Amino acid sequence: MITNTELQYRGDLYPSRIVSYKHDVDSVFFYTDNNVILKVTVIRDSLIRFRFTTKGYFSNDFSYAIDKNHSQGYNFLEVSDNETYYQIKTSKVQCRIQKLDLRLSVFDLDGNVILEDELGFHWEESYEYGGNIVKMSKASKEGECFYGLGDKATQLNLKGKRLENFATDQYAFQKDQEPLYKVVPFYIGLQNKQSYGIFFDNTFRTFFDFCQERRNVTSFWAEGGEMNYYFIYGPQMQEVVTTYTDLTGKPELPPLWTLGYHQCKWSYYPESNVKEITAKFRELKIPCDAIYLDIDYMDGFRCFTWNKDYFPDPKRMVAELAENGFKTVVIIDPGIKIDKNYAVYKEALEKDYFCKRADGPYMKGKVWPGECNFPDYTNPEVREWWAGLFKELISDIGVKGVWNDMNEPAVMEVPNKTFPMDVRHDYDGNPCSHRKAHNIYGTQMARATYHGVKRFAYPKRPFIITRSAYSGAQRYSSSWTGDNVASWEHLWIANIQMQRMSISGMGFTGSDIGGFAEQPSGELYARWIQLGVFHPFCRTHSSGDHGNQEPWAFDEEVIHITRKFVNLRYQLLPYLYTMFWQYIEEGIPMLKPLVYFDQEDAQTHYRNDEFVFGNQILVCPILEPNALGRRMYFPKGEWYNYWTNTLVPGGKEMWVDTQFDEIPLFVKAGAIIPKYPVQQYVGELEFDELTLDVYYKEGKEKSVVYEDAQDGYDYKKGRYSLLSFQLTGKSNKLIIQLHKEGKFETNYSKYKLNLIGLPFKIKSLKIDSEKVPFDKEAFEADNYLVVDKEFAVLQLIGE
Ligand code: GLC
Repeated sequence: MITNTELQYRGDLYPSRIVSYKHDVDSVFFYTDNNVILKVTVIRDSLIRFRFTTKGYFSNDFSYAIDKNHSQGYNFLEVSDNETYYQIKTSKVQCRIQKLDLRLSVFDLDGNVILEDELGFHWEESYEYGGNIVKMSKASKEGECFYGLGDKATQLNLKGKRLENFATDQYAFQKDQEPLYKVVPFYIGLQNKQSYGIFFDNTFRTFFDFCQERRNVTSFWAEGGEMNYYFIYGPQMQEVVTTYTDLTGKPELPPLWTLGYHQCKWSYYPESNVKEITAKFRELKIPCDAIYLDIDYMDGFRCFTWNKDYFPDPKRMVAELAENGFKTVVIIDPGIKIDKNYAVYKEALEKDYFCKRADGPYMKGKVWPGECNFPDYTNPEVREWWAGLFKELISDIGVKGVWNDMNEPAVMEVPNKTFPMDVRHDYDGNPCSHRKAHNIYGTQMARATYHGVKRFAYPKRPFIITRSAYSGAQRYSSSWTGDNVASWEHLWIANIQMQRMSISGMGFTGSDIGGFAEQPSGELYARWIQLGVFHPFCRTHSSGDHGNQEPWAFDEEVIHITRKFVNLRYQLLPYLYTMFWQYIEEGIPMLKPLVYFDQEDAQTHYRNDEFVFGNQILVCPILEPNALGRRMYFPKGEWYNYWTNTLVPGGKEMWVDTQFDEIPLFVKAGAIIPKYPVQQYVGELEFDELTLDVYYKEGKEKSVVYEDAQDGYDYKKGRYSLLSFQLTGKSNKLIIQLHKEGKFETNYSKYKLNLIGLPFKIKSLKIDSEKVPFDKEAFEADNYLVVDKEFAVLQLIGE
């Protein structure tokens, strides 16, 4: 415990006695005798905001992260007090604020402490910049665990670590290296089987210390701005994550093709090379939906231009690629080359859209094109202008997606790799320095890009990918984890990063499969693709410095493994699309770390490797060379080995044998997994049946399948199809009830049931209680049962 004398020695100040309070519709203001005001706002019964000022008044309330459409409203709010504290009670939690020193604590309704201030709010005045370094410390309980914070390249459980949030271009980052590209100041605490969340919405450089400096204390602080944080009550992690995601916003559905496989390299050029690569995918029958053009497609790295030597007729090329099922995605960076003959530069200069230094000159820095100026994306007028620049690329040329890079922002050849801190920003009418705008810069660029691409792609859906992101960026863009390395350690990192991003509200993320820097062995590439197909965004990318990284850069076996796993991803597209839909509707993370899946089971608290893909598929990558199996933990439930169909009971650790062309993959008993036929790209085939892998279970299990037109916005008008299956297994009977919703008519007319683990031989079939003929021989030949699409109850009755 730090004493007050120590604090004063450090220059920290802390609030004093509450002298009065005021209460309006949803907020309570507590005033102290040293100008500190605490504003407590109840947003929902389980979501409370705490905002502090030391000035005696609050500045304009503005946040880029909070989604204006987040759910609000509560059932119950009551304020009371006794001698020592004030109490605010909702239908989920009670919050106490000490009269003596403003320290606060939150309890569940049974009186269990969920979160408790240690010193609570304190601060240090910043004489250099003005304002305060704002700090918060919480008492941490024995056994408490911590998760979240975006893209951190370290163990999933953050206990014992200190982490920093400052968007940074971290080429070839290492395990535990800090800080990285993304800034998600949101964490989940788990203690005594209860989860809660903290979102510290402050865009200055922030730090989190999870019991590293002091064993029983968790703290977080920022180099400026306000102590402004949201407390989210679970008690299940699902409630914490979905509430956070609702607060910071959910994306729209991406077009289905973006969930296919993407191929990228720095760089594919000229046109003939792009054509060779795409043709090879078709020749080898490895499905692929997107091909990327990195910076070399441009004329001297000038954004929104083309190198006409390499790409003489981009529109024709993009159209030809599209005919073959390839969507073209191009990179666009923030640095605009200083060149008075370059239209984009000239216009931005004329309109005064570039960021300026404190004393007036434009911010100048080197990136790929050489000396550049940088648009101030925190100015709404600049965002609008930027959005308009996409007209030619999207409407005329037919590009389908835009890749925003270097938007931390990255600057070359300077020690801090970014803008000097005195650079000025508009911050949507709240002018500030780069200290405050740095972490949000990339997100505002992605936001402007998203609006542009959406405008010109309409009525189709846009696709954006960004490297830098702050909380809320998921509303506009997918992301990737930046410049990783072709190493086994990075495969381990990628696995954890994607789970962490998923529970940090930014699920549509992937790693550069195979590694960006250096060259993977065939084995490493194969193991990476085997994991990468289970990541929401699935793209191979490499720097090209050390050789090629297309599947055929490796031997036949690796080509075979790539095809096998990419095929599996394409078969699972309806499953993947359904999990995406659950993410956009309810904020449910697409990848679920084991601790998310079952927080009550302490065995899951420190697991890093296994995760649940969607709701019913358990994935465990192979992360070492020469491994023909591994130990893994099976969470609660029963799990079918995907490759052998043998059933494994959950709740224990076990060794699992695998081949080089397999990874441990399990399906939850009772699941009904929808599958499409393998296609070389989304929309290649029309098919008249939907395969359903039905995994028998004694008991009940629910599965859903969401489908729509795969692009466009009709789904928002009810033109979607939602199938809800309820499976009920008995010793000699399997009942499948089907409920349908939505106005979208799928093309297929039947279901092809693949029955797995049935403990009885089928004697007869009933559809909606009418007996229907059962062709025993045909069934026994291939184990498939074809059923008409229109059924409400299907019964398989045993002998
Ligand atoms: C950055 C990106 C990388 C890209 C390269 C060239 O390093 O992270 O993905 O290929 O720039 O544009």
